[in-house]
Amino acid sequence: MDIFPRPLPTEPLIDPFARAITYLRVSVTDRCDFRCVYCMSEHMTFLPKRDLLSLEELDRLCSAFIRLGVRKLRLTGGEPLVRRDLMTLIRSLGRHIDSGALEELTLTTNGSQLAKHAADLYAAGVRRVNVSLDTLDETKFRQVTRWGDLGVVLGGIDAALAAGLKIKINTVALRDVNEDEIASIAAWAHGKGMDLSLIETMPLGEIDGDRTDQYLPLSRVRARLAQRWTLNDIPYKTGGPARYVSVAETGGRIGFITPMTHNFCESCNRVRVTCTGTLFMCLGQEDAADLRAPLRASESDALLADAIRSAIARKPKGHDFVIDRTRAKPAVARHMSTTGG
Ligand code: 5AD
Ligand code: SF4
Repeated sequence: MDIFPRPLPTEPLIDPFARAITYLRVSVTDRCDFRCVYCMSEHMTFLPKRDLLSLEELDRLCSAFIRLGVRKLRLTGGEPLVRRDLMTLIRSLGRHIDSGALEELTLTTNGSQLAKHAADLYAAGVRRVNVSLDTLDETKFRQVTRWGDLGVVLGGIDAALAAGLKIKINTVALRDVNEDEIASIAAWAHGKGMDLSLIETMPLGEIDGDRTDQYLPLSRVRARLAQRWTLNDIPYKTGGPARYVSVAETGGRIGFITPMTHNFCESCNRVRVTCTGTLFMCLGQEDAADLRAPLRASESDALLADAIRSAIARKPKGHDFVIDRTRAKPAVARHMSTTGG
């Protein structure tokens, strides 16, 4: 009889601060069909296609993380749905939903391609998507996204709802752009059964404008909403950094994501991988680990798993973003579209 317990095939990923890493966000492309003013400059240089992981490599990478205990996988970008044949990857990753290894497969999208893909996403096992939308005013929408068409995005949202997908709207709070509109965006979202998350701008990557002009603290937004509505703090958690309130008058929820005014790192359960296979242990820090080399070095995933483990072992405690006029440079040079939101 074997008296020694067999080693577990995997040990869960636990970082130095005892946080279990169960959530992976993968940026499948740095490209986007929009150029949101707080996110990108108008003329972006994107990665050459040859530097990207193939869809097969992305599948291997995600599957390795799932074997190491990741339960929730979010595909981001850039705009994930502009990556050619992305649905092939999503359909393939759906096997981990079928097997029960993965609790959730989801994506963050700008909605421009959603009408085309909504039904396929549902069929592949996706049940929720986050759609980024900063204004319901067509002219402002074009100003914020530089290239986007509001009508197309709204059509995508309706198609996704009709396909049975749950939607959360992500809105970046922008001074002088949507400050007056937040309550009406919330009323619109709640009227369609969608939650809303509000996000403060983060100093990620060079943009053309001045971030101090865009930054709008959510404490101010919340105070204004509270003049109009009854907001009740609720313990609702999605495993992310948002703090939620319920709005008595609309029956919906609003999440506040406040990287600038409130530090939410204590409960961080996530890491991020870029489309070139670089693992970032924290959105707000430069330290990274290359997973592409170990991925390509052998057909077995042993080297890859070792590289993942040693990277998690140096996940930092947190970030310290500052937006102020004395710092001309962003806190982190890479754009959100590189690392994924
Ligand atoms: N600060 C805050 N949010 C950003 N996003 C993109 N860039 C930034 C930034 N610098 C948002 C997008 C999307 C989410 C993925 O991140 O609008 O909602
Ligand atoms: Fe594209 Fe999203 Fe960046 Fe806008 S915020 S440019 S939609 S990646």
